[in-house]
Amino acid sequence: MITLMWAMDVNKVIGNGQQLPWYYKEDMHYFKTHAYHKKALMGYQTYVSMLKYFPSGKLPFSDIYIASRKQTQIENAFIISDVKSFLENFNDDLIVIGGAQIYKIALDYADDLRITYVLKPYVGDTFFPKYSLDTFKLVDYKTQPELILTHYERVKK
Ligand SMILES: NC(=O)c1ccc[n+]([C@@H]2O[C@H](COP(=O)([O-])OP(=O)(O)OC[C@H]3O[C@@H](n4cnc5c(N)ncnc54)[C@H](OP(=O)(O)O)[C@@H]3O)[C@@H](O)[C@H]2O)c1
Repeated sequence: MITLMWAMDVNKVIGNGQQLPWYYKEDMHYFKTHAYHKKALMGYQTYVSMLKYFPSGKLPFSDIYIASRKQTQIENAFIISDVKSFLENFNDDLIVIGGAQIYKIALDYADDLRITYVLKPYVGDTFFPKYSLDTFKLVDYKTQPELILTHYERVKK
């Protein structure tokens, strides 16, 4: 099962200066609960931004897949040079944790989505790509003063 997980503001901002524009304890908890210790795919830029939070280089995922066409080796990680064929052939649970370039490719392969809606605008330079929830149904949500934490599943045809 392929899960995409992201947080975005009211204008679909997801990043600014290679960082999250916000810090919400509840969103971090949601991310930890559903992404930590899982097999995770991320783009190289997201990997670099995560190193700020994990300077030892040890990210909290069981397997780490980093999409890059330039890098050939990263310690403790698998390099994915073709995201599409990786997703087409992946047969296990996987969480896709960004960023925008990787979400754009992975949306077609998503079985479920965990979206945190941040209910106010932030300054940002990276936006979530165009997407549709037409083939997904909302199965769970939780509201917080400035957030809605959601879970959608793809509707089976
Ligand atoms: N709010 C959230 O939930 C959230 C989550 C994650 C990230 N973010 C934010 O998003 C921003 C980063 O997103 P981004 O879109 O700039 O970068 P990104 O998606 O994290 O990484 C882009 C990199 O992935 C590689 N890549 C792209 N397409 C590929 C393909 N088809 N096959 C193999 N490799 C491919 C390239 O690496 P090379 O250049 O090495 O070839 C490219 O530079 C940051 O600000 C971060 O904080 C936010």
